[in-house]
Amino acid sequence: MAKNCVVILAGGEGTRMKSKKPKVMAEIIFKPMIDRVMESAMGAGIEDICVVTGYRAEVLEAHLAGRAQTVRQEQRLGTGHAVMQAMDFIKAHSGGNVLILAGDAPFMDSRTIREALEAHVNNRFVQTVISAKVDDPFGYGRIVRDADGNFTAIVEQASADVDTQKIREINSGAMWFDADTLCDLLGRIDNKNSKGEYYLTDTVHIALSMGLRVGAYAADNADAVLGANTRVQLHELNEILRKKTLEKLMLEGVSIPCTSSVIIDPDVKVGADTVILPGTIIKEDCAIGEDCVIGPNTVLYKTKVGNGVTLNAVQAEEAEVKDNANLGPFVHLRPNTVIGEHVHCGNFVEVKNSVIDHHTSVSHLTYVGDSDVGSGVNFGCGVVTVNFNGKTKNRCTIGNDAFIGCNTNLIAPVTIGDRAYTAAGSTITDDVPSDALSIARERQTNKEDWVKKTNPYREKKY
Ligand code: UD1
Ligand code: CA
Repeated sequence: MAKNCVVILAGGEGTRMKSKKPKVMAEIIFKPMIDRVMESAMGAGIEDICVVTGYRAEVLEAHLAGRAQTVRQEQRLGTGHAVMQAMDFIKAHSGGNVLILAGDAPFMDSRTIREALEAHVNNRFVQTVISAKVDDPFGYGRIVRDADGNFTAIVEQASADVDTQKIREINSGAMWFDADTLCDLLGRIDNKNSKGEYYLTDTVHIALSMGLRVGAYAADNADAVLGANTRVQLHELNEILRKKTLEKLMLEGVSIPCTSSVIIDPDVKVGADTVILPGTIIKEDCAIGEDCVIGPNTVLYKTKVGNGVTLNAVQAEEAEVKDNANLGPFVHLRPNTVIGEHVHCGNFVEVKNSVIDHHTSVSHLTYVGDSDVGSGVNFGCGVVTVNFNGKTKNRCTIGNDAFIGCNTNLIAPVTIGDRAYTAAGSTITDDVPSDALSIARERQTNKEDWVKKTNPYREKKY
């Protein structure tokens, strides 16, 4: 049997978004709408994807980066015209079914797509429109049915009379077609309407007038049809997904005492009894364990967090934090960082491309970059790993239970042995053996009566 495929309409400018980007690049919880639509299609088992691009096509093509075929719609002459641009792609799937999706309806889900296909196949329809009942149908095409409930037409907002405007069942813009019938129908639609556009929705009355079997499958997920034409609607869609995600987490045992200003990517897993506090943003590819306190004011990206971890005002990207670590306030973890169990990092500590082993403490004002730090190490206040000489980056190695005195500069590459001490204010350029104390600073000199002799002060003003 021929493979099923999908054509995603993404050519529109989205004038009302007032954006330099194509509308489908607008993000719903940190992910462009087009990616959510593609994932839903793939989740329904559809592998062959063709995206119709138009406005700022190059931006979309660069974003897709070969994940889908693309065809360009040079002039935006309507949804029917957009599908026509994919004619070769559709013909290549002759004998199969073609799904049309709107790239600006990010909540169309895999289950709805699959169930609509079942209805399409089981009823032997040549065209199945995915519809849904919504509270506010304004702006959408209405699904008109006869007294027996048979689908008879789609009427757009602009052409709807008062009674038709009251219909709450609307066209999602998504439809299944028999591929060969779609090719035939596309050849029959015209642009003889007030806007001079080729409407894909015209295929409904054309097919019906030809005596073909056309159906409307009403999705039970009413959100599936929601689209965003303005930034206000974009905000509304963001809120829908944000609230749904937080509610799901709460029902799984996560505490979110105040949900406002908490944004979590829907794919993020969070363990039971973890508390999420305001100002927390958890982006893609993160996982949080149980019994953690995350936030306030914490932003995580591609970061794994173990159990019992505290992150207070932490920003972390591409990092891992192991069980019972306590970070914050004001800690920045940069890519390729692993924070071990029971590690403490306090205020104004930055860690980059480093591994810090268990029970180490980095309490204040310290930069650890390109370093391998053992367990039980104590960093005094203001330690700096001097990892960059202007040309190359070098690593520091610090052994277990070492004690790095306040304001030590560790000039990489350098190794501090196990249990070794560095004196406060030292600038360490050479390796320090295990169990040694290294003092690398000028010995103190007191010049007696220097002030009396040189009288360095100006006259007292107070
Ligand atoms: C369309 C439907 C309407 C439905 C609604 C659901 C038609 C005529 N109307 O209206 O019945 O309720 O979707 O959201 O189909 N696009 C192109 N090229 C074009 C025009 C549009 O690629 O020339 C793309 C857009 O980028 C968008 C999608 O097609 O992703 C839908 O177009 P849009 O203009 O938003 O249609 P609606 O007016 O919302
Ligand atoms: Ca739309």
